[in-house]
This record gives sequence, C-alpha cells and structure tokens, in this order.
Amino acid sequence: MAKVRAYTNIALIKYWGKSDLNWNLPTSSSIGLTLDRFYTDTSVEIDQFSKKDFFQQLNGQQIEGPKISKIINFIRNSCGNKNFVKVISENHVPTSAGLASSASAFAALTKAASQAFGLELDNRELSKIARIGSGSASRSIFGGFSIWHKGQNKDDSFAESILDPVDFDIRVIDILADKRVKKISSSQGMQLAQTSPNYDSWLKKNDRQIDEMLKAISDHDLEKIGLIAETNSASMHELNRTAKVPFDYFTENTREIIAEVDQLYKKGILAFATVDAGPNVKVITNSEYQEKIINVLKEYGEILVQKPGRGVANV
Ligand code: PMV
Repeated sequence: MAKVRAYTNIALIKYWGKSDLNWNLPTSSSIGLTLDRFYTDTSVEIDQFSKKDFFQQLNGQQIEGPKISKIINFIRNSCGNKNFVKVISENHVPTSAGLASSASAFAALTKAASQAFGLELDNRELSKIARIGSGSASRSIFGGFSIWHKGQNKDDSFAESILDPVDFDIRVIDILADKRVKKISSSQGMQLAQTSPNYDSWLKKNDRQIDEMLKAISDHDLEKIGLIAETNSASMHELNRTAKVPFDYFTENTREIIAEVDQLYKKGILAFATVDAGPNVKVITNSEYQEKIINVLKEYGEILVQKPGRGVANV
C-alpha cells in the first residue's frame, strides 16, 4: 500500500482554458505556489481479489469518480497490471469555502497509485498524469513555486519546480468570506471564458506575464510578484464577464475585499488580491504586513494564513 500527502496550490498566473479536453492540455502556461495548510492524504492498495476499483472519500468534497478512474486506468495500462485498487482519500481542505481541493487530491492520487503499481516515476512524469485529473494538480506535485508548461501534446505538457524551498518571505492570506459551493465548475468556467472576444489577446498577455513572473520570482521581488498576480487574476475574471454567456465568480464581498486590499496597497502595505474559480479572495503579502491586513479583513470571515508548502511525499 502507498500513502501520499499533497498540498493545494494557488495560481499566480492562471490556467484558464483547454486546448484538449480529453488530456487536459491548457491554452497557456501557468505558475503556482504550493501552500502549507490545506492537503489531501490518499492511500492506494492493489486488491488482487476485487473485480472493480473501490473509491472512498473519508470527508469533504467528493472528487469525481470518472476522473479518478481515468488516472487509475492510465497508470494500470502503462504498467500492464490488470489488478483493481482500493483508494481511500481524506481531504483537509475547507471544502465549503470553495477552495480548490482537486489539485491536492489528484496530485496525491497520482503518486500513491503509481507507487502501488510499482512504477518509479519522477515528478515531471507524475505531473503529466496528475494533469489528466485536474490541470492545477500538475503544479501540486511540486513544493514552492512551479510552472506548468502548456506544451503541445499529452507528453510535453508538464510542470516543473521554479523555486523550492522558497528562500524569501511570502504569505497567502485566505479570507473565507463566502461559504457557498461554487455554481460554475472551473472546467465549465473555462469553456465559457474561451468564447470571449478578448480570449486571444488574454492568451498573449498571459505569455508575457509568465516571463515577467519568472523574473520577479528569481529576483525575489514580492511587490512585482503580487502586482503581476493581481493583474492576471483581474483579467481572468474580466474574461468571464465578456464571455458569450457572461458570468462572474465575484460577489459583493469579493469586490469589497479587493477594494480594501487596493486601499492597503495605496497606504504602502504590500497586499495583492487574487481570486480563483470561486468568490474567495486570497491576499499575497509577507510576514511583516500580515497582521495589518488581517486586522482590516477579519470582519469579512474566517482568516487563514499560509506559507509556501511541500511537494507530494509519502506519509
Ligand atoms: O485545475 P482545475 O481544473 O481545478 O482549474 C483551476 C483553475 C484556476 O484555479 C482558476 C486556475 C489555476 O491555474 O489553478
């Protein structure tokens, strides 16, 4: 039996569109930061007597069965072992808050399943398989900052480490202001966003921002990292509002919190807002400013502060 822990990651440059639905190939590269508070533990065990796979989710959001099967089948086929497996997964992600648990879930599943089948895969290979379940899971294979290269086919779309361990002070503050479950999944959202007339120019801008973000990370420049991430997030959500069928993950709270974060930055506090496929805002900052930010934002909901986290590992 193999048991693995993987952490969630926050996208600093977002993945927001697929060029291939089956293999989860993205329309652009993306950059993430793996964090240290939310994780999934998954164990996979070969069951020689079973006639089908067995999946059990001990708590939290149910990850989708067909996607689990896709990963298990891929690994089973690549090693020619026909046995079925028992998968037990436990999420330590506040699921009601709409925080992405699929990244940690599929990263943990991929490593645990490949080990259970006796495959010794490096992190790059694991990232390609995790990607099939959920694109952002490819980045959760790695600790710290990582990049998922869009590639051109299923074999060259992989993630790799940019900086791990992260040798500078960065924090991500989650404000759990809205506990409703998101109505539009990330896959649905992306498909809609790709109908926006601004989608092609958004892709070009994303390519530029990837280069800028890589430089900002290598310079350890928190302000640049935050400013680029904030602009990137804002334009992803603008894309949604200009889709053929417009939609918006933002709520009144989201807008208010972003306005507060803007005010903080204008007062000289390093605070930058980023939002994924849900209403909750994450604020990028450092340990010096975190308390000041928490004091302003705590009235909006539960606050959690995260530091850079580790890549997938056995537990
Ligand atoms: O990996 P998915 O299918 O859950 O999509 C993730 C989408 C975003 O979180 C909005 C962006 C990203 O790159 O993580």
